[in-house]
Amino acid sequence: MNRKNILAPSILAADFKTLGSEVETVTKAGAGYLHIDVMDGVFVPSISFGMPVISSIRSVTDCVFDVHLMIVEPEKYIRDFAGCGADSITVHAESARHLQRAIHEIKEMGLRAGVALNPATPLCALDYVLPYLDMVLIMTVNPGYGGQAYIPEMTGKIRALRRKALDMGTDLDIEVDGGINDSTLEEVLAAGANVCVAGSAVFGGDRSANVKKMLNVMSRYTTYK
Ligand code: DX5
Ligand code: ZN
Repeated sequence: MNRKNILAPSILAADFKTLGSEVETVTKAGAGYLHIDVMDGVFVPSISFGMPVISSIRSVTDCVFDVHLMIVEPEKYIRDFAGCGADSITVHAESARHLQRAIHEIKEMGLRAGVALNPATPLCALDYVLPYLDMVLIMTVNPGYGGQAYIPEMTGKIRALRRKALDMGTDLDIEVDGGINDSTLEEVLAAGANVCVAGSAVFGGDRSANVKKMLNVMSRYTTYK
């Protein structure tokens, strides 16, 4: 087991008029993934951006593009997101009608596959798909907006999933998304998360300093003991 702790800045909170340089700044500062939130205004209340934006920043960095699809019928778009530069695609258990098929389509495209669970969705939603997954995304807020407060009950959910993965002998990435900042980062790491998404905590003030500060905290935690 040698899973690394990774910081994944969410570009939803970036300044879009200078998106290319925002991406360069956080990746040069050491962010391992770039978290890319796609919202359709149907599965979640807000609309963000889609394929053309992702294609355009693909030329700026080799960083892993961690695409989080908050859309209905994600199966329809897996090929398109692979084509515009996604390295990892995460679909919601609540929106993929044929979740097992969606996961296989992502893997067939040669990408890493993730499943996201809303705060109210129990871990048993993963029961028959966990062995196929590279990553599980535990939503620590209700998806739809950046800048919301961490839901404290999610700490136990992260811990339970890490225990389950260890019991299965699975080297699973557990990603957390929503309300991750200086006050909550250590709590999720201690519970067993190893991929930490941060939007407003990174893209406010000195981006580079924010990334380095969070990475410094993350370096003190080892997920597997
Ligand atoms: C929420 C998105 C998040 C969001 C996180 O629906 O999935 O990735 O950008 O933003 P913060 O870190 O500000 O809570
Ligand atoms: Zn997200």
